Amino acid sequence: METLKAEFRIGAVTPEQFPNTMYPEIAFTGRSNVGKSSMLNNLVNNKNLAKVSSTPGKTQQINFFLIEDRWMFADLPGFGYAKVSKKDREKWLHLNMEYLATREQLVLTCLLVDSRHDPMKTDLAMMEWLENNERQFVVILTKCDKISQNDVDERVEQIRGLLQHCEYAIDVIPYSSTKNIGRNNLLGLLRRSL
Ligand code: GTP
Ligand code: MG
Repeated sequence: METLKAEFRIGAVTPEQFPNTMYPEIAFTGRSNVGKSSMLNNLVNNKNLAKVSSTPGKTQQINFFLIEDRWMFADLPGFGYAKVSKKDREKWLHLNMEYLATREQLVLTCLLVDSRHDPMKTDLAMMEWLENNERQFVVILTKCDKISQNDVDERVEQIRGLLQHCEYAIDVIPYSSTKNIGRNNLLGLLRRSL
Protein backbone atom coordinates (compact mmCIF):
# COMPACT_ATOMS: atom_id res chain seq x y z
CA MET A 1 0.00 0.00 0.00
CA GLU A 2 1.30 3.41 -0.97
CA THR A 3 2.38 5.68 1.93
CA LEU A 4 1.80 9.42 1.79
CA LYS A 5 4.26 11.75 3.45
CA ALA A 6 2.42 13.27 6.41
CA GLU A 7 3.56 15.64 9.15
CA PHE A 8 1.57 16.90 12.09
CA ARG A 9 1.61 20.70 12.03
CA ILE A 10 -0.54 22.10 14.84
CA GLY A 11 -3.50 21.34 17.07
CA ALA A 12 -5.67 24.44 17.16
CA VAL A 13 -8.15 25.08 19.97
CA THR A 14 -9.08 28.58 18.78
CA PRO A 15 -9.42 30.03 15.26
CA GLU A 16 -6.42 32.29 15.90
CA GLN A 17 -4.25 29.18 15.93
CA PHE A 18 -5.31 27.97 12.47
CA PRO A 19 -2.06 27.84 10.47
CA ASN A 20 -1.41 30.60 8.01
CA THR A 21 -0.66 28.31 5.06
CA MET A 22 -1.35 28.43 1.32
CA TYR A 23 -1.93 24.74 0.70
CA PRO A 24 -5.34 23.52 -0.44
CA GLU A 25 -7.02 21.94 2.55
CA ILE A 26 -9.31 18.96 3.07
CA ALA A 27 -11.38 18.74 6.24
CA PHE A 28 -12.65 15.58 7.93
CA THR A 29 -15.76 16.01 9.99
CA GLY A 30 -18.47 13.83 11.48
CA ARG A 31 -19.87 12.56 14.72
CA SER A 32 -17.61 11.52 17.50
CA ASN A 33 -16.32 7.95 17.10
CA VAL A 34 -17.40 7.70 13.45
CA GLY A 35 -13.82 6.87 12.39
CA LYS A 36 -12.26 10.17 11.25
CA SER A 37 -8.80 9.68 12.73
CA SER A 38 -8.70 6.03 11.60
CA MET A 39 -9.53 7.07 8.06
CA LEU A 40 -6.90 9.75 8.06
CA ASN A 41 -4.29 7.24 9.20
CA ASN A 42 -5.48 4.74 6.62
CA LEU A 43 -5.27 7.32 3.83
CA VAL A 44 -1.65 8.17 4.56
CA ASN A 45 -0.80 4.60 5.66
CA ASN A 46 0.52 5.58 9.08
CA LYS A 47 -1.26 4.15 12.11
CA ASN A 48 0.31 6.63 14.49
CA LEU A 49 -0.45 9.93 12.82
CA ALA A 50 -3.83 10.75 14.33
CA LYS A 51 -4.87 9.36 17.69
CA VAL A 52 -7.54 6.68 17.50
CA SER A 53 -9.61 5.83 20.55
CA SER A 54 -12.54 3.70 21.51
CA THR A 55 -13.52 6.57 23.83
CA PRO A 56 -15.56 9.09 21.86
CA GLY A 57 -14.51 12.71 21.99
CA LYS A 58 -10.80 11.95 21.77
CA THR A 59 -9.98 14.66 19.26
CA GLN A 60 -10.74 17.91 21.08
CA GLN A 61 -8.96 20.28 18.75
CA ILE A 62 -8.49 20.76 15.04
CA ASN A 63 -5.36 18.88 14.05
CA PHE A 64 -3.63 20.08 10.91
CA PHE A 65 -1.36 17.76 8.91
CA LEU A 66 0.82 18.63 5.94
CA ILE A 67 0.47 15.90 3.30
CA GLU A 68 3.03 15.29 0.53
CA ASP A 69 4.33 18.84 1.06
CA ARG A 70 1.36 20.18 -0.90
CA TRP A 71 -1.99 19.62 0.83
CA MET A 72 -3.28 20.07 4.34
CA PHE A 73 -5.63 17.70 6.12
CA ALA A 74 -7.70 19.08 8.99
CA ASP A 75 -9.08 16.53 11.48
CA LEU A 76 -12.03 18.28 13.13
CA PRO A 77 -13.35 17.47 16.59
CA GLY A 78 -16.27 15.03 16.51
CA PHE A 79 -19.69 16.47 17.24
CA GLY A 80 -22.71 15.13 19.04
CA TYR A 81 -21.38 12.92 21.79
CA ALA A 82 -23.79 12.90 24.72
CA LYS A 83 -21.37 12.09 27.53
CA VAL A 84 -19.33 15.22 26.98
CA SER A 85 -20.51 18.26 28.95
CA LYS A 86 -22.85 20.64 27.18
CA LYS A 87 -20.34 23.44 27.49
CA ASP A 88 -17.57 21.39 25.85
CA ARG A 89 -19.90 20.20 23.13
CA GLU A 90 -20.83 23.78 22.32
CA LYS A 91 -17.20 24.83 22.32
CA TRP A 92 -16.25 22.09 19.84
CA LEU A 93 -19.23 22.74 17.63
CA HIS A 94 -18.31 26.39 17.57
CA LEU A 95 -14.72 25.62 16.58
CA ASN A 96 -15.94 23.27 13.82
CA MET A 97 -18.38 25.76 12.40
CA GLU A 98 -15.97 28.67 12.65
CA TYR A 99 -13.48 26.63 10.65
CA LEU A 100 -15.97 25.48 8.00
CA ALA A 101 -17.49 28.93 7.61
CA THR A 102 -14.31 30.96 7.36
CA ARG A 103 -11.38 28.83 6.23
CA GLU A 104 -10.32 30.13 2.82
CA GLN A 105 -7.91 27.27 2.10
CA LEU A 106 -10.70 24.69 2.40
CA VAL A 107 -11.43 23.03 -0.95
CA LEU A 108 -13.28 19.89 0.12
CA THR A 109 -14.98 18.56 3.24
CA CYS A 110 -15.26 14.85 3.92
CA LEU A 111 -18.36 14.25 6.02
CA LEU A 112 -18.09 10.85 7.68
CA VAL A 113 -21.31 9.01 8.47
CA ASP A 114 -21.61 5.55 10.05
CA SER A 115 -22.69 3.10 7.33
CA ARG A 116 -24.48 0.90 9.87
CA HIS A 117 -27.22 3.35 10.80
CA ASP A 118 -29.60 5.80 9.25
CA PRO A 119 -27.94 9.22 9.17
CA MET A 120 -28.63 11.09 12.39
CA LYS A 121 -30.11 14.56 12.68
CA THR A 122 -26.69 16.11 13.14
CA ASP A 123 -25.41 14.36 9.99
CA LEU A 124 -28.34 15.70 7.98
CA ALA A 125 -27.89 19.16 9.47
CA MET A 126 -24.23 19.12 8.42
CA MET A 127 -25.10 18.12 4.83
CA GLU A 128 -27.64 20.90 4.68
CA TRP A 129 -25.20 23.41 6.15
CA LEU A 130 -22.44 22.52 3.68
CA GLU A 131 -24.85 22.76 0.74
CA ASN A 132 -26.28 26.09 1.91
CA ASN A 133 -22.81 27.49 2.51
CA GLU A 134 -21.61 26.36 -0.92
CA ARG A 135 -18.91 24.10 0.44
CA GLN A 136 -18.02 21.12 -1.76
CA PHE A 137 -18.37 17.89 0.17
CA VAL A 138 -18.17 14.14 -0.12
CA VAL A 139 -20.02 11.75 2.20
CA ILE A 140 -17.91 8.84 3.45
CA LEU A 141 -19.80 5.85 4.83
CA THR A 142 -17.49 4.44 7.50
CA LYS A 143 -17.02 1.00 9.05
CA CYS A 144 -18.61 -0.73 6.07
CA ASP A 145 -16.62 -3.88 6.92
CA LYS A 146 -19.17 -4.38 9.70
CA ILE A 147 -22.18 -4.83 7.39
CA SER A 148 -22.97 -6.92 4.32
CA GLN A 149 -22.27 -5.68 0.79
CA ASN A 150 -26.01 -5.57 0.24
CA ASP A 151 -26.52 -3.27 3.21
CA VAL A 152 -23.62 -1.08 2.05
CA ASP A 153 -25.23 -0.73 -1.39
CA GLU A 154 -28.56 0.17 0.15
CA ARG A 155 -26.97 2.78 2.39
CA VAL A 156 -25.14 4.34 -0.56
CA GLU A 157 -28.43 4.53 -2.49
CA GLN A 158 -30.21 6.06 0.49
CA ILE A 159 -27.62 8.82 0.89
CA ARG A 160 -27.41 9.45 -2.86
CA GLY A 161 -31.18 9.88 -2.83
CA LEU A 162 -30.97 12.40 0.00
CA LEU A 163 -28.32 14.36 -1.87
CA GLN A 164 -29.74 14.21 -5.39
CA HIS A 165 -30.58 17.91 -5.47
CA CYS A 166 -27.41 19.05 -3.73
CA GLU A 167 -25.09 20.90 -6.05
CA TYR A 168 -22.14 20.71 -3.70
CA ALA A 169 -22.27 17.01 -2.85
CA ILE A 170 -19.77 15.41 -5.19
CA ASP A 171 -19.86 11.75 -4.17
CA VAL A 172 -20.82 9.06 -1.65
CA ILE A 173 -18.02 6.60 -0.87
CA PRO A 174 -18.24 3.46 1.28
CA TYR A 175 -15.12 3.11 3.40
CA SER A 176 -13.38 0.73 5.75
CA SER A 177 -10.12 1.66 7.41
CA THR A 178 -9.58 -1.88 8.64
CA LYS A 179 -10.17 -3.52 5.24
CA ASN A 180 -8.85 -0.69 3.01
CA ILE A 181 -12.19 -0.35 1.25
CA GLY A 182 -12.73 2.96 -0.54
CA ARG A 183 -9.17 4.17 -0.09
CA ASN A 184 -8.17 4.26 -3.77
CA ASN A 185 -11.51 5.75 -4.66
CA LEU A 186 -11.16 8.57 -2.14
CA LEU A 187 -7.49 9.23 -2.92
CA GLY A 188 -8.39 9.54 -6.60
CA LEU A 189 -11.17 11.96 -5.79
CA LEU A 190 -8.90 14.05 -3.54
CA ARG A 191 -6.21 14.23 -6.22
CA ARG A 192 -8.74 15.35 -8.79
CA SER A 193 -10.12 18.10 -6.58
CA LEU A 194 -6.70 19.55 -5.69
P1 GTP B 1 -13.33 11.29 17.71
O1 GTP B 1 -11.90 11.74 17.56
O2 GTP B 1 -13.72 10.93 19.09
O3 GTP B 1 -14.28 12.24 17.08
O4 GTP B 1 -13.46 9.89 16.94
P2 GTP B 1 -13.05 9.54 15.44
O5 GTP B 1 -14.15 9.88 14.52
O6 GTP B 1 -11.71 10.10 15.11
O7 GTP B 1 -12.98 7.94 15.49
P3 GTP B 1 -11.70 6.99 15.61
O8 GTP B 1 -10.94 6.96 14.32
O9 GTP B 1 -10.94 7.32 16.84
O10 GTP B 1 -12.40 5.53 15.73
C1 GTP B 1 -13.35 5.23 16.72
C2 GTP B 1 -13.47 3.71 16.88
O11 GTP B 1 -13.96 3.09 15.69
C3 GTP B 1 -12.13 3.02 17.16
O12 GTP B 1 -12.37 1.98 18.09
C4 GTP B 1 -11.73 2.46 15.81
O13 GTP B 1 -10.88 1.34 15.92
C5 GTP B 1 -13.08 2.09 15.20
N1 GTP B 1 -13.03 2.17 13.73
C6 GTP B 1 -12.68 3.24 12.99
N2 GTP B 1 -12.75 2.97 11.66
C7 GTP B 1 -13.15 1.68 11.55
C8 GTP B 1 -13.40 0.80 10.41
O14 GTP B 1 -13.28 1.15 9.24
N3 GTP B 1 -13.84 -0.46 10.71
C9 GTP B 1 -14.01 -0.89 12.00
N4 GTP B 1 -14.46 -2.15 12.17
N5 GTP B 1 -13.78 -0.11 13.07
C10 GTP B 1 -13.34 1.16 12.87
MG1 MG C 1 -10.52 11.50 16.10
